[in-house]
Amino acid sequence: MDYFLINGGNRLRGPVRVSGSKNAVLPIMAASILTDGDTILRGVPDLADIRHMALLLAKLGVSVERHDDGSLHLRVEDERNCHAEYDLVRKMRASVCVMGPLLARRRQAQVAMPGGCAIGDRPIDLHVLGLTTLGADSELVGGDLVLRGKKLRGGEVFLGGPFGSTVLGTANVMMAATLAEGTTMIESAACEPELIDLANYLNACGARITGHGTPRVVVEGVKSLHGCEYTVIPDRIEAGTLMVAAAITNGELRLGNCRIDHLMAVVDRLRAIGVMVERDRDEVVVTSARRLEPITITTQPYPGFPTDLQAQFMALLSLADGNSIVTEKIFPDRFLHVAELNRMGARLRKEGPTVIIEGVKKLVGAPVMASDLRASAALVLAGLIAKGQTKVSRVYHLDRGYERFDEKLNAVGADIRRLSE
Ligand code: EPZ
Repeated sequence: MDYFLINGGNRLRGPVRVSGSKNAVLPIMAASILTDGDTILRGVPDLADIRHMALLLAKLGVSVERHDDGSLHLRVEDERNCHAEYDLVRKMRASVCVMGPLLARRRQAQVAMPGGCAIGDRPIDLHVLGLTTLGADSELVGGDLVLRGKKLRGGEVFLGGPFGSTVLGTANVMMAATLAEGTTMIESAACEPELIDLANYLNACGARITGHGTPRVVVEGVKSLHGCEYTVIPDRIEAGTLMVAAAITNGELRLGNCRIDHLMAVVDRLRAIGVMVERDRDEVVVTSARRLEPITITTQPYPGFPTDLQAQFMALLSLADGNSIVTEKIFPDRFLHVAELNRMGARLRKEGPTVIIEGVKKLVGAPVMASDLRASAALVLAGLIAKGQTKVSRVYHLDRGYERFDEKLNAVGADIRRLSE
């Protein structure tokens, strides 16, 4: 198992290119199940989660090949298997987004219930509600959710839940509705840029979706979808993580392939902390001031502050000049990084879904354990500025969602060694 040894204290400076968005690519790959012909995806990051989705799709009869130019080529070759087995689903929750496409195209989907996850409960009741509203029957068989629908019909679907809308639930219903008869209206749809990207891909394949990026998405069903060539959006969470890397090391990073318009809530909080974020032609330049102001952050669905950057900002606010407050409104238990950051000298106190952060003058290197993707990023960020050496174990969590993160950071001045246990 790989781990990182990080010697902290180096200022990061220079250009870094943001990779394509993992959370946009995963549902788009699943959507290829709906199509006849070839899909060619460009800007796909080379990540463990993408390889995992490729493996799942291969089992479902889709050939997936990565070409030398980095593009991913997908083509449905065999439509007989409709079963996403537990062994694959439990390793990557995003596997559930094959459910809508399988149901719409093959009239049946058998998908293992994903079960628990390090960031808290991850129910899929809203996915099921949406798909049954389109006419599917559902039953639970041996831990698998089995959905059947001879003929899906458009309907009105409300996807608001106790913690807002659902990103992958919206994706599932949107994908299924593309081949349903008639018109579907999704009310309280998630508005994340990754869903706009999914809708743009589907429309490029011949779907008729409007309103994507707003809480009301309308899908007019069509008879079939063809393949297309499509470039995915840059990863806004990787970009936000790199912004924190610049801020925490008091450095200056020039981010290429960065959509600042997808990061307005994040940029707003960085500026409130005292970090400068400016556009410079097609780059975004992030420069840190010496003093970090304490702030409050509440995570929210897009366009609010993303839960996927909560842990990284907590590392940064550990060094602010005063007390900050972070409240998690999407996954109220997503705080496994708190105890690990405290091992490095941070002063974080959890009270329900809120963490109070008492700023300290310095963090100190320590052996720490990554628990999930974004928590591992937070520990690496803390290691970049900690005094001495930090050992981050279980970096396979990080490798799921950050493409060559250690190499990217080393290229701008970090000192990270990847070693194997
Ligand atoms: C997506 O997960 C992302 N994953 C997550 O990123 C991200 O944290 C999350 O959206 C929120 O932005 C991918 O895109 C692959 P949700 P998703 O359904 O769609 C509740 C990362 O680090 N809910 O929008 O599974 C749920 O419990 C990952 O890259 C229901 O109540 O999240 C949560 O409180 C981790 N019923 C809230 O909605 C449901 O049926 C939002 O979850 C579904 C969700």
